Amino acid sequence: MLNIDSKKYPKPRSRHHNASNVYFPLHALGAIPKFYPPLIETIDWSDHFNNGNPPNILDLGCGWGTCMLQLAYNHTEENILGLEVRKLPVDWIKEVVKGESLPNISVIWYSLPNGLSFLQDNSISSFFSFFPDPWIKKKHHKRRAFTKEFIQECLRLSKDNAQFWQMTDVPMVAKHHIDILSDFQEFTIDSFEFVGEWNSEWSEVFPDYLPYSKDIYQQIPWNIPKTDQEEFSTKKGIPYVKTHFTIHK
Ligand SMILES: C[S@@+](CC[C@H](N)C(=O)[O-])C[C@H]1O[C@@H](n2cnc3c(N)ncnc32)[C@H](O)[C@@H]1O
Repeated sequence: MLNIDSKKYPKPRSRHHNASNVYFPLHALGAIPKFYPPLIETIDWSDHFNNGNPPNILDLGCGWGTCMLQLAYNHTEENILGLEVRKLPVDWIKEVVKGESLPNISVIWYSLPNGLSFLQDNSISSFFSFFPDPWIKKKHHKRRAFTKEFIQECLRLSKDNAQFWQMTDVPMVAKHHIDILSDFQEFTIDSFEFVGEWNSEWSEVFPDYLPYSKDIYQQIPWNIPKTDQEEFSTKKGIPYVKTHFTIHK
């Protein structure tokens, strides 16, 4: 297990949210706002991974990156790329990657709705979308990174039989994601695992929870280290779901 020494790598204090315009694609904004993550045209992967190969695992909105750092440490055969719109966690992760000489993980300060044209078709074997910002109010939904257009982009990037791993602690968001992915015949839901105590908030959104139970879906072994947000939900007793999809191209 990778031990991230908090004295060696102190986390800077951060406000949770950025300026709201960073959640929109640059083409939708009049001018380039201050502190907007740069767009990316091409990438030399040897600047990111010791083996010079492109990534095969994407952590979309990786936050402080504990999950992907652990995974990279345990699976040196994978090249893992985190994409994150907040600069503070990105800079912190870079410090850890450099300080611990991790050869197979990188992180980029980037806003997802700008698309992922710098990544190659059929190159990704696993996508992580863990606890994306829920943007609960209807007027804020347009700030969500998880959209049909974005999933279309994931489809372009995905290898055949790629895995799409998803977690959220917000019932409406879980439903929203399943609804979006159900519109793509290439995505098959294999697993819906509820963690915590089932409550009225969840049963309102998933009145037919049974269809998602083990009886119908095989349970995929979740060999992925806990994310920071997952750890937080666990500590606070906040229930959440883990869903797994396979992408058949
Ligand atoms: C609730 S946090 C979860 C972080 C991490 N996945 C975890 O499970 O601990 C959601 C993350 O998604 C990032 N995010 C939200 N919108 C994004 C966007 N448009 N592009 C990149 N990252 C984004 C946020 O900055 C935040 O770090």
